[in-house]
Amino acid sequence: MKFLKTILCGLFVAALVPRVNAQSANPVEVTMNKVKLSFTLDAAGTPQYNVQYDQRTVVAPSRLGFALADDSTFYKDFEVLKTSSRSVNDSWQPVWGEVKSIRDQFEELTVSLRQRKAPGRLLNIVFRVFEEGVGFRYEFPLQPNLKYFVVTDELTQFRLTGDHKTFWIPGDYDTNEYLYTTSKLSEIDNTDMVKTSTDIAVRTAPDPYAVQTPLMMKSTEGLYINIHEAALSNYPAMQLHVDRAGYTLTSSLVPDAFGNKAYLHAPAQTPWRTVIVSNKAADLLASKMILNLNEPTSLTNTSWIKPMKFVGVWWEMQTGKATWNYSNFPDSMDARGNLIPNGTHGANTANVKRYIDFAAQHGIGGVLVEGWNKGWEDWFGNWKENVFSFTTPYPDFDVREITRYAASKGVTMIMHNETSGSATDYERQLDTAYRFMNQFGYPSVKTGYVGKIIPRGEHHDGQWMVNHYERVARKAAGHQVTIDVHEPMRPTGQHRTWPNWMASEAGRGNEYNAFSVGSPPEHETILPFTRLMGGPMDYTPGIFKMKGYASYAPDRQMHTTLAKQLALYVTIYSPLQMAADLPENYSAKPDAFQFIKDVAVDWDDTRIIEAEPGDYVTIARKEKGKANWFIGAITDENSRTATVPLSFLEKGQVYVAVIYGDGPGADWKTNPESYKIETFLVDGNSNLKLKLAPGGGAAVHVRPAAAQELKQLKKYNLK
Ligand code: NOJ
Ligand code: CA
Repeated sequence: MKFLKTILCGLFVAALVPRVNAQSANPVEVTMNKVKLSFTLDAAGTPQYNVQYDQRTVVAPSRLGFALADDSTFYKDFEVLKTSSRSVNDSWQPVWGEVKSIRDQFEELTVSLRQRKAPGRLLNIVFRVFEEGVGFRYEFPLQPNLKYFVVTDELTQFRLTGDHKTFWIPGDYDTNEYLYTTSKLSEIDNTDMVKTSTDIAVRTAPDPYAVQTPLMMKSTEGLYINIHEAALSNYPAMQLHVDRAGYTLTSSLVPDAFGNKAYLHAPAQTPWRTVIVSNKAADLLASKMILNLNEPTSLTNTSWIKPMKFVGVWWEMQTGKATWNYSNFPDSMDARGNLIPNGTHGANTANVKRYIDFAAQHGIGGVLVEGWNKGWEDWFGNWKENVFSFTTPYPDFDVREITRYAASKGVTMIMHNETSGSATDYERQLDTAYRFMNQFGYPSVKTGYVGKIIPRGEHHDGQWMVNHYERVARKAAGHQVTIDVHEPMRPTGQHRTWPNWMASEAGRGNEYNAFSVGSPPEHETILPFTRLMGGPMDYTPGIFKMKGYASYAPDRQMHTTLAKQLALYVTIYSPLQMAADLPENYSAKPDAFQFIKDVAVDWDDTRIIEAEPGDYVTIARKEKGKANWFIGAITDENSRTATVPLSFLEKGQVYVAVIYGDGPGADWKTNPESYKIETFLVDGNSNLKLKLAPGGGAAVHVRPAAAQELKQLKKYNLK
């Protein structure tokens, strides 16, 4: 029915407002509000497109096309066979998300091309023009002279118009876990960053001038431009090679073991290339364009997919208090072949029960346990194929008893499958691993790919692995299991298609503040504009003990204040949010922990209040199906005052605002644990002024006031 509505509505609009010029005209233009896309063929028959925003050029005429194994010039000598257009104005409801309903409105132009030289191969380019940008993809139609083929290079270019300020990480085939560098386009060179990032397990970045997407830029005129991709499937991830003199970015696909990029079989299509643009940074964070460019899910029953918060036997290993491994390598076995316990194994039944009790007591939905299964003794760094069993617990992890105990307390157990990069081994065990989860009532799994990939020669972000992650998502869906993938390629909105793929890491998470020197205070203000553009991140926020937590590095500390850790539950979107610290550190500060207990993980509405990449982000979200709002405001190393007009609140309703802010003298470096909690009455006319310390933040819980609170509490007044 919805499909029919889309078509009828599309035809109707197209008939009334012919926004696409006559098909023979050259160039062909499509506009939507301030965004204009033009397509043309140049004198050599090379497809070219350009993008304008508010009459300013965002992408100057840029090349489209490919080098194929049997035709290195599949980018020129084309003629236009025909163009066709359609208009769509629809909306859809995500299974979970930042908003209840998503509007999908675009003008579409399909250009059908044929190469003039024999054998006259066909290529279509489909453009979708949205109010906030442009997406385009290539289609290889069914045709007699292109069946199985190999893409040796995609030649898509993005010719930018100036030396934009750029927030970038190296274009690495195996990781997205670098720190961001802010520089001009002309200054991009990843050599030092790749060399010095020894805290990242596997680094493969042969091109010093390649960067990862989402790539965030700001022009001197104040245009915010984001380049990424959508619906990455059966194709390698796209990185961008930067021509520093010409400000030109060229698609650089992650190669396979032979140096080839993609193996396709027509009819086939590439992911969408996306350019999102606005003169307001907040508009980029509100954009749903990447999600809209993904296919609707084919899962008919999604009732088993549930957003949740969780705690885990995890930070104690990250900080060196416990170990994943049960025995110490290499003397791990006695003469009879039994594992010798090392006495530091975190995933033992008693300790797991402690987390289950804590979760049950505080209404936290899930408990993750890492290090429960055999294989951790020498799991890392050996590029060996058969590392873990995903069905064999260590002797001190009583899976039956834990399942029974968790169920009796109403707590959900979260499975952990670390593969150490051996994707082949994981695929062999997938069926038994997911049956095991079903048998023991684990509706959710965190997977991981630390290490060099097997099949050897493949990369985390290449076509083979992109297909692997999708196979895992499909298999998990078949078993009604949700997944949280660590070390995959960065997301491209595929959670619309696979809503059980609830989160990914694919970036530099909070854990880097444990095993490395960490990430500076600006890091979390850049993530929404980069990594998070493609989808939710399992960042693992909520650390309360800010210094001296790492036993192996006593001077290690977090790079935020405690209040900022709370704000991250709102500014970093994920339907799965970990309360990452140890239960005892939460029990020591029950008043601050209350925010983590209360904060929602699924939303009806989201408002980006203010945002500037690298500097600050303030977001307000309305809890799904409830009248509550949660606000998160964060800053970089500079203190600032975040101003939050509460005009989104229901008119005439009085609310209670509980403000978890930076306390007296708070400073991420010198005094990170200083916080204060204040409670006021507010309404739609209130204007919060949240004072954020250097590296600080504020988290606010806003809920309708009860009758007696109207008398007891003071009204918020402007200071
Ligand atoms: C890296 C993941 O990001 C981390 O969360 C996990 O604990 C380790 N791998 C071990 O699997
Ligand atoms: Ca800054």
